[in-house]
Amino acid sequence: MNILAIDTSCDETSVAVTDGRKVLSNVIYSQVLLHKKWGGVVPSIAKRAHEERIDFVVEESLKKLYHQKNLFTSELASRLSAGPVTPRSSSESEGSLRRSFAQTSTRLTNYSDFFANKIDYIAVTQGPGLAVALEVGIKKAKELAKKYQKKLISVNHLEGHIYSVFVQNSKGNPKRDFKFPYLALIVSGGHTEFVIFKNHLEYEIIGQTLDDAAGEALDKAAKLLGLGYPGGPVIERLAYEVGNVDSHSFPRPMLKSKDLNFSFSGLKTSFYYFLKKNPNKTSEVKLLASSFQEAVFDTLIKKTEKAIKQTGINRLVVGGGVIANKRLRNLMRSLVKKYQGEVLFPTYKYLTGDNAAMIGVVAAYKAEKGLFVEDIDQLDRIPRMNL
Ligand code: KG4
Ligand code: ZN
Repeated sequence: MNILAIDTSCDETSVAVTDGRKVLSNVIYSQVLLHKKWGGVVPSIAKRAHEERIDFVVEESLKKLYHQKNLFTSELASRLSAGPVTPRSSSESEGSLRRSFAQTSTRLTNYSDFFANKIDYIAVTQGPGLAVALEVGIKKAKELAKKYQKKLISVNHLEGHIYSVFVQNSKGNPKRDFKFPYLALIVSGGHTEFVIFKNHLEYEIIGQTLDDAAGEALDKAAKLLGLGYPGGPVIERLAYEVGNVDSHSFPRPMLKSKDLNFSFSGLKTSFYYFLKKNPNKTSEVKLLASSFQEAVFDTLIKKTEKAIKQTGINRLVVGGGVIANKRLRNLMRSLVKKYQGEVLFPTYKYLTGDNAAMIGVVAAYKAEKGLFVEDIDQLDRIPRMNL
């Protein structure tokens, strides 16, 4: 069952083709360079860039699928190597088949036929995300679903980040199976949430940030330090260079509260005032970056420990852009070791950030349950969509 999935929730235009948990092709056209000079995502720029790029990204994703050895080419190859081929239609001669086989490695010859034959369903991110950005993907998904008469599946972007841990490459790796329930943590630029992942498509939110997300806090700190956008990767590198020291002990917000919620805006404010009072301190940028990162991660780890104790669940899945960070991965690994548990991260780096592959994988489970969009014209974006 091949699903063509689209995600335009924020600043990446992404289209993937998936089959169950396997990714057959995934294309991500990032807008990071467009937003960099503004220090964050500018909605009007994001909308225009998605609109300009979406057709190209859909086509690239299909081309990648077309070149997958085990699909079209091998099907054709096996028909050819089996001896005289029987044309499937009047326009298909053996000569034309051989010619098209020779061309498969260079170009996609018949886009529409290929789409119609190889794609079973269309999936799209409905929310949460930037309204004007979500809109672009939804419009394209509706257009394709109508044109090719395919059923449409709407997906919550946060479900995608949770399932990203179980996404496989085209060969079906990693093989990990589902062992419910999981304690899921989503740590991205827009979200910091604890969720009990009870079974397929069954979630319970048990904690979330009351203001800024963890990635957003890192991005804002990087901006204050003049490090550019996005902040997470550059802070990780600078912190690593000084051995991830915590020389400044910035506050760890909400650690004393009994709930599993987060608040990172106070940390950002105290960082801001520290820099204001100590302007010369920007020369210590590596130590400051490292200490800020430690404050964010220490808070995440301590709250995760609380969540393990409160739920009794020691199997974790962690998804979202921030879990690309090796320091955070190591801290999570040590934590679960203490509780004889396990923690799963997305296996491939592109799966930590925004991507359509994870949306396609969720859609496969929705398709299995018959959860399709009933009235395509009525489908609308939900910028503040909950799980
Ligand atoms: O999941 P994502 O791509 O987009 C959202 O759905 O928000 O997450 C982006 C966030 C940004 O805040 C970025 O700074 C952070 O993930 N990030 C990182 C790293 N790579 C990306 N944070 C820490 N360390 C990294 N290596
Ligand atoms: Zn995301």
